[in-house]
Amino acid sequence: MGYLIETIYFLTAALFILGLKRMSHPTTARSGIIWAGGGMVLATVVSFAHPQITAHASVVNYVLMLIAIAIGGGIAWWGAKIVAMTAMPQMIAIYNGMGGGAAAAIAAVELLKDHGAHPLPVSILLMAVAGAVIGAVSFSGSVVAFGKLQELKFFKDDAKFRFPGQQKVNAAIFAGAVLLGLIIALSHSASGPLISLFFVLALAFGAMMALPIGGADMPVVISLFNAFTGLAVALEGFVLGNSAMIIAGIIVGSSGTLLTLMMAKAMNRSVSNVLFSNWAALGSGEAQAVTGSLKPMEPPDAAIQMAYASKVIIVPGYGMAVAQAQHKIWEMSKLLIERGATVKFAIHPVAGRMPGHMNVLLAEAGVPYDYIADIDEINEEFATADVALVIGANDVVNPAARNDKSSPIYGMPILNVDYAKNVQVIKRGKGVGFAGIENALFFADNTRMVYGDAQKVVAALIQGIKDLG
Ligand code: TAP
Repeated sequence: MGYLIETIYFLTAALFILGLKRMSHPTTARSGIIWAGGGMVLATVVSFAHPQITAHASVVNYVLMLIAIAIGGGIAWWGAKIVAMTAMPQMIAIYNGMGGGAAAAIAAVELLKDHGAHPLPVSILLMAVAGAVIGAVSFSGSVVAFGKLQELKFFKDDAKFRFPGQQKVNAAIFAGAVLLGLIIALSHSASGPLISLFFVLALAFGAMMALPIGGADMPVVISLFNAFTGLAVALEGFVLGNSAMIIAGIIVGSSGTLLTLMMAKAMNRSVSNVLFSNWAALGSGEAQAVTGSLKPMEPPDAAIQMAYASKVIIVPGYGMAVAQAQHKIWEMSKLLIERGATVKFAIHPVAGRMPGHMNVLLAEAGVPYDYIADIDEINEEFATADVALVIGANDVVNPAARNDKSSPIYGMPILNVDYAKNVQVIKRGKGVGFAGIENALFFADNTRMVYGDAQKVVAALIQGIKDLG
């Protein structure tokens, strides 16, 4: 039986890896999710026949296990069905936290269990406490991340969670958790209260680490906690001797680490800067004053300019997600293409609020992948565009990132929208973006502001283009 289970675990590992590979391209991503999900179902089902369970069949309550799976699976299914695309980051935060919490719970059971004549070796105990700390940190940190992204009242004001000497207090809590973990692993006979205190410290550290970080930095933090969860699961996989957990944990840990680094790089910030600074603390003094004026344009005039353009580059941002304007913008693009224009979509790696945010929305609207270009492919082309249409994007097109050394976003790669012959910006008013700073692009001579909710404005543009016949 053991060999059969290991073989099936090998198959699940192959499904995880192939699934992940397929997720790396939009055309195969959906099937990648199904492949990896299939691997997870297989791993879960076969675990019922695992010797660690069957050896204790008299005390294992299969009915309770099935009820737990049905409740957890049911809530996850329902939650995923109803969640709005804009609320996806907090959903990922809470699910990720559950993974970290589950790894910590496994460690708690193993540490509290009476192993009788077969005590766990120190190496395994060390892995159990390491997984416990990392999993608990990921759990409480992810819960805080969820609260911030959901904009729950308690988490609203980041400043109230900052105090002098904070890093030292956090370091002391972390050191306390590590010390207790070492005592627990090396003493072999730790008491329940000691183990409980160990978990309290680890959970407190996760929450303290996440509380002062601004809500807008949370996607990077969630990705980091995701990597932590993977590591914790892999460590607990060693404790349980479960190879599927080890492989799944390593895959999650390494992909989460890569994603964290890529997101930080696209914002031109280091991970430590995200964790220990906040936007307000960035920049090196007064930002350059913005000159010029905002020049509004009515949708019918914007439609005329658009209709006679031979090349249009559309830059979607967070506002397009808020307005759910992706279907309308593709409808407008098709009209322009029918009129003989070349239309492309330019995607910045951190446009929106989560990795791939814009790609997912455009895919949902049916935009073919060959119309979508990333920053490196498209940046040269802005100079040849008759119109660059910025729809609900702000920071990712802010020239201050190129020109203003005192700006908090200085050095962040941006889409060179300002090089286009004409720029139209759709936004509701004077609202700032995620970084909370003014954008000189909106005041430039070649820029016109088309004010309003993105979906309504694009509907008006479509009407305007149709009216031209
Ligand atoms: P933002 O800079 O956040 O700007 C969004 C703009 O959309 C706002 O200026 C807002 O102006 C406008 N807007 C909001 N609702 C709208 C609506 N219904 N209709 C029309 N416009 C609307 O967006 P971005 O350019 O996509 O930049 C993303 C930012 O998030 C970057 O700074 C990035 O570093 C950060 N970030 C991203 C990620 C990932 S992974 N994507 C992770 C962490 C941080 P009005 O209020 O005036 O309408």
